[in-house]
Amino acid sequence: MSGRLAIVGLGPGDHRYLTPEARAALDAADVLYGYGPYLDRVSERAGQARHASGNRVEGARAQDALNEAAAGAQVAMVSGGDPGVFAMAAAVCGEIETGPQAWRALDIVVIPGITAMLAVAARAGAPLGHDFCAISLSDNLKPWDLIEKRLDAAAAAGFVIALYNPISKARPWQLGHAFTRLAQHLAPSTPVVFGRAMGRADEALTVTTLDQAGEVKADMATLVIIGSAETRVIARDGKAPLVYTPRVAAAVTA
Ligand SMILES: C[S@@+](CC[C@H](N)C(=O)[O-])C[C@H]1O[C@@H](n2cnc3c(N)ncnc32)[C@H](O)[C@@H]1O
Repeated sequence: MSGRLAIVGLGPGDHRYLTPEARAALDAADVLYGYGPYLDRVSERAGQARHASGNRVEGARAQDALNEAAAGAQVAMVSGGDPGVFAMAAAVCGEIETGPQAWRALDIVVIPGITAMLAVAARAGAPLGHDFCAISLSDNLKPWDLIEKRLDAAAAAGFVIALYNPISKARPWQLGHAFTRLAQHLAPSTPVVFGRAMGRADEALTVTTLDQAGEVKADMATLVIIGSAETRVIARDGKAPLVYTPRVAAAVTA
């Protein structure tokens, strides 16, 4: 059998979010690669090798997996959420583009998973009901001024914005700066949703407004959704509010 590399999305949380296609790809693999905490979510199977690595070695992990597939193994590379969203699928493609010719001949499949943005949106109601975009707030792989430019453009254009990688120990101020920047375009009452560890036992959802958003704690397991001028919150007695963006947008007034 020729080698194969499946890049598998695990979804945001526990096994409820693993698709049958992803489950089958994991079962069929001789060897699994991935960031340690993601690999820990996959149950062990006798005879299946596992290679866990850190979150700063995506390129090396991709190269190892490609080499093993090129040697004939059935390899699965696991990724949290969807592997194509700020994750391993693009890292593998990058290595294939610059790597040995043999890697281009491999059977490569990308198996989708539920990305964090969709999991958080579903818990909150329907904040992505109209046009939206996703921006990673990490300035590890792009300059901060480019992030600011994209925040300005997205908010001015009326997109709902999902922020991945909002904060970390090494990036403590970026989220606060992003809120300040967005406040130049959006009303203080704009709804903001914080979703933490969605799909896991300790998941938490907070609904607030842009002027209060700086008070809410966020960490690396949090995804933030900032509404547009159209986004609304329906308050409900004794139940969580419903955040939604209507399917119909108002006409542009110059
Ligand atoms: C490097 S990105 C990977 C995204 C992933 N590929 C996906 O599709 O969800 C990591 C960021 O995704 C978000 N994230 C991942 N899992 C999450 C979850 N269960 N709940 C909330 N946000 C999550 C956080 O913003 C985190 O900093």
